[in-house]
Amino acid sequence: MITADDLSLRPPVEDDAQLVAELMDVPISTERPAQIVRLWREHWDERGYGTWIIEDPAGRRLGFVGLRSHSDFIRVTIRVIEGEGGDDLATRALRVVVSHALEWLPDLPLRIRLAPEDVATREVAEAAGMTYAPDLDHAVDGDEWQVLELPYVRIADRVPPRAREAMLKMWGEVNDAGGAVGFVPGASQEDVAEVLDGYVARLAEGRTVCVALNSPLGELLGFGFVARSTGMTVAHTANLERIMTDTARRGTNHGALLMAGMHRAAREMGVELVTLDYRGGTGLGEFYTRYGYTEVGRIPGGVRVAPGDDRDGVIMARSL
Ligand SMILES: CC(C)(COP(=O)(O)OP(=O)(O)OC[C@H]1O[C@@H](n2cnc3c(N)ncnc32)[C@H](O)[C@@H]1OP(=O)(O)O)[C@@H](O)C(=O)NCCC(=O)NCCS
Repeated sequence: MITADDLSLRPPVEDDAQLVAELMDVPISTERPAQIVRLWREHWDERGYGTWIIEDPAGRRLGFVGLRSHSDFIRVTIRVIEGEGGDDLATRALRVVVSHALEWLPDLPLRIRLAPEDVATREVAEAAGMTYAPDLDHAVDGDEWQVLELPYVRIADRVPPRAREAMLKMWGEVNDAGGAVGFVPGASQEDVAEVLDGYVARLAEGRTVCVALNSPLGELLGFGFVARSTGMTVAHTANLERIMTDTARRGTNHGALLMAGMHRAAREMGVELVTLDYRGGTGLGEFYTRYGYTEVGRIPGGVRVAPGDDRDGVIMARSL
């Protein structure tokens, strides 16, 4: 079960055949809706994941987000009951499911396919962070299909020169846009490079990893670091640092996907508890609360953004 804001997602039960009949415009009296639900349930039994049924807080069924394993990718589908706000609902549900997939499912490309004229589904997929992959265009029985793919996460213990350049560029742009990643607007490239290279050196020591979110074409969309604590008594904890996404693509779920990737990376390191800190007055507490964090400490005036502009340093934590 996944819960988010005003919707929840759960695996299918037999009784969902009614919803399938409605969504596919097939009479419930036919065998097809029940058969579809049976296949969904078999997929869950075999793979441990599959189609999610979308419900509102009153338990009303609103649609589904399908996840189906193929040989070298996972196909995602989305269908919601027609009505006002349908696209908004589809976007919210898809955002939650693709983030969950990036955090928990086998490390395979996640793809959605759609007819070129299906602009509504394309917008829903793009709002969930997926991007068009033109090389995957194909036809089946004369029908044209386009494919959008979810960004992928790269968990790295080294930063190749070209990646370093892209990270440095993004970090500078994020600073200039007022992002709270250790600097203020106008910070020099040398100052940022020094901090970045400090991280690169720590990667080599083995307790810190770099988590990068990349588009299917390999462009950098965001990054951050998972820094494991040193010392025997705190080795099960880590701090998430310098979380940032491309300023040009904000609001397209990349922050959520990056957080999913960072949690995945931390778990792979054996981490059970994560902390992070943010600059007060940025609204970031709300952002992190969505991903399960709770405020655990606050240092009044602990961050000096400019003379006369002191902000609280806020610490948040969650267990993984
Ligand atoms: C924080 C950050 C990583 C989020 O990335 P993003 O690409 O905007 O993420 P998403 O598209 O997943 O955004 C998800 C939601 O978070 C909200 N959000 C993003 N930044 C927010 C902020 N500073 N305060 C409050 N809400 C914020 C968005 O409005 C969006 O809400 P919606 O879904 O209701 O529209 C990005 O804004 C960033 O890089 N900020 C600058 C660097 C920074 O300050 N990092 C934090 C270091 S502690």
